[in-house]
Amino acid sequence: MSQNEVDRSKRRFLIAATTAVGGVAAAGVAVPFLASWLPSQRAKAAGAPVEVDISKIEPGMIVNVGWRGKPVWVVNRTKEMMDLLVKHDGKLSDPKCEVPQQPEYCKNAARSRKEHANILVAVGICTHLGCSPSEKLKAGAEGGMGDDWHGGFFCPCHGSRFDLSGRVFAGSPAPINLEIPPYKYLSDSRILVGDDSKGA
Ligand code: FES
Repeated sequence: MSQNEVDRSKRRFLIAATTAVGGVAAAGVAVPFLASWLPSQRAKAAGAPVEVDISKIEPGMIVNVGWRGKPVWVVNRTKEMMDLLVKHDGKLSDPKCEVPQQPEYCKNAARSRKEHANILVAVGICTHLGCSPSEKLKAGAEGGMGDDWHGGFFCPCHGSRFDLSGRVFAGSPAPINLEIPPYKYLSDSRILVGDDSKGA
C-alpha cells in the first residue's frame, strides 16, 4: 500500500468514526429534550380524574376524595334531606344557581346529575377566603346550628353557612355557592370526578 493510499484509508476511518460518535451524541441529547416536553407523572396525578364507588357511602354519609389537591365531598343524601332542600330557598343568596359555580347539568336545587339526584359532589372549599367548611349534615338543633337548620355545611373561619346542595345562605361572608366539579357516572355505582366528557 502506497503512503497516499494509507492516508486516504485513515481519513475514511476518521470520518466514519466521527459520524458514529456524533449520532450517539445526538441521540443522547434528543431523549432528555423530548422528555422535557412530556407531562411528569406527578403532573398527571395532580390533574387526573378520581373514581369513587358510591355504593360504599351509606345514606346520610359523606366521603372526602381528593382531586387536584382540593377536598371534594361526595354525599349520599337521604330522602328526608332531599325533601328539606326545597324548603329554604327564600334564605339563600342564589337558590337557582345563576352564578356558574356548577356544570349546566347540575343547575338545579339538588345541584346534581339526574341519574342519582341524591348524590352531591362538591368542592369543599369556602368561597369566601378558602377555608374548609365542616359538615353539619344533620337537621335540627343537635349539631349546634339551631332548630331550623336543615343540614349542610358551616365554615368556622367567618361563619358562612351552606345547605346540603352547597348553596350559600344570605348574610354569610361567602358571596357565592360552593363549586360543583365536573363529574360523570361510569356505572350505576361509580362516578368519575374531574371528567364529564361523553354524556355531559
Ligand atoms: S373562609 Fe369561610 S367564611 Fe371566611
